[in-house]
Amino acid sequence: MKKWWHSAVGYQIYPKSFQDSNGDGIGDIKGIISRLPYLKELGISVIWLSPINQSPMKDHGYDISDYYHIDPSFGSDEDFENLITEAKKYDIRILLDLVINHTSVKHEWFQKALADLDSPYADYYMIREGNGNLPPNNWRSMFGGSAWERIEGTNKYYLHLFTVDQPDLNWENPKLRKELYHIIQFWLNKGVAGFRIDAIAHIKKVFDAAMKEADGPDGLAEDFEHYRNAKGIEQFLAEMRDQAFAGQDILTIAEMDVPNPNDWVEFFGDNGYFSSIFDFYHTIYNVQSEEFKDRPVELVEKLKERAFEKQTLAHNKVFFTNFIENHDLPRSPERLIPKEEIHFYSKSLLAVHYFFLRGIPVVYQGQEIGMQDYPKNSISEYIDLATHNKYQEYLLRGKSPEEALSQINIENRENSRTPFQWSTDQNAGFTEGEPWFEVNPNYVDINYEKQEQDADSLLNFYKRLIKVRRNIEYEDVFVYGRTLQLFKEVKGCFAYKRQLGDKEVTVICNFTNQSLTIDYEYDAATQILMNNYKNIQYTQGLLSLNPYQAIVIG
Ligand code: GLC
Repeated sequence: MKKWWHSAVGYQIYPKSFQDSNGDGIGDIKGIISRLPYLKELGISVIWLSPINQSPMKDHGYDISDYYHIDPSFGSDEDFENLITEAKKYDIRILLDLVINHTSVKHEWFQKALADLDSPYADYYMIREGNGNLPPNNWRSMFGGSAWERIEGTNKYYLHLFTVDQPDLNWENPKLRKELYHIIQFWLNKGVAGFRIDAIAHIKKVFDAAMKEADGPDGLAEDFEHYRNAKGIEQFLAEMRDQAFAGQDILTIAEMDVPNPNDWVEFFGDNGYFSSIFDFYHTIYNVQSEEFKDRPVELVEKLKERAFEKQTLAHNKVFFTNFIENHDLPRSPERLIPKEEIHFYSKSLLAVHYFFLRGIPVVYQGQEIGMQDYPKNSISEYIDLATHNKYQEYLLRGKSPEEALSQINIENRENSRTPFQWSTDQNAGFTEGEPWFEVNPNYVDINYEKQEQDADSLLNFYKRLIKVRRNIEYEDVFVYGRTLQLFKEVKGCFAYKRQLGDKEVTVICNFTNQSLTIDYEYDAATQILMNNYKNIQYTQGLLSLNPYQAIVIG
């Protein structure tokens, strides 16, 4: 059955860093409202907002202390209602980030649990007796250090798979689950179009008191089997679907990996637990890593393998959400393109290569103007706790401080959290105050204002790209067409055809810094829908692509 979101083009906003309206240095809802005309012009139809609920901001909003209110740093509850109303005028829908694997330590439930470990609220969390003088087991938090924190004055510990400020909720408790469904309905009543659902793969924990064999010098161990897509998670997901999502025309995108394709339909099919999925199958590669440093084409080959495997298996069954950037990843040019090759052509190629695959394309704020990483000179310039923990882990594993920092600079998630670069004004036009996180000094070159005025800019390229993706004449083939990989054997060539009935669209990307010639019957009657160069070189069955050329032929 066709759904409105099948043809959506999404945009992720990290509210803290998008647009400040009141000079406090923190992006806010009024700032977002003021940029709706921009987003409309860009052409997107759905916004995913990273969390805006009340939060002590230890994990920038992914630690919620009150699900029913907006954090004052982002504005008032009324501001949010205005955002929904205003966005509607532009045909833009809003998705909230649903963070229900854990709360903040400051959440009332947790505070009540701490105050009285016999209270019903203690059963809202994963609280376990210590193992002698030690924590209940030696699970490592995904953000570093032990996953258990001792509750003062007791020998009990609470579980935190993420930071120590984010205690995990106990989904085994039906009362807790009911509270969560109530929260969901509260926001749906306010008019949100759905949710991106945070860390949902972790809601089921199969506690195991046995110490695992340590896998690092910290004596701790990763034990995903027991807390990531753990056995029994399906029951929770099915109940949430039936009690919170069913019968509502909403878009729900789960942040999770479901590696076994046999499970995809159950999770994301027509009657799946969610509408779609943000998966990380393709985000694990980094061209700056040891593995790919001098082998960028090998990285592209990996990307190809994974992307087309997914496309083939997903056909007619599931809609993935396609993305190359988000708030947890370094910027895509640095991750996928060798440093000396980062320029308009490679950035626009990155845009083209994923935009026409089956699924919902999503752009992360700043991607459309080609924002880049901002490496730091000292670890103290980072704020993120997970980043600091990782740094400590590298030291413990024997890296020197310089080595550890340079690794952190390559892989840390704050690279993508620098404020949006709107103009050459002070602080890139993001705020008139002191920005909460330093603006990347390259804003004098890379900014919205400059690109807006330049017809050949990346920004205007993205606008055309989105227009093509949403062009009514091609919409069905892009949304429902089959994906057929092309030129699989040609190294560095990422190419595919989308096909529906007698309609066909071909996408060819040369991911190398050399020109590439391929056998291709180019029919003069076809239309060039996108091209990041001015020309196409074609002679008698041979198509020559410039370095990083990307074309879409309709
Ligand atoms: C998700 C979010 C990430 C956050 C974590 C804990 O992975 O994307 O930013 O830190 O969950 O909520």
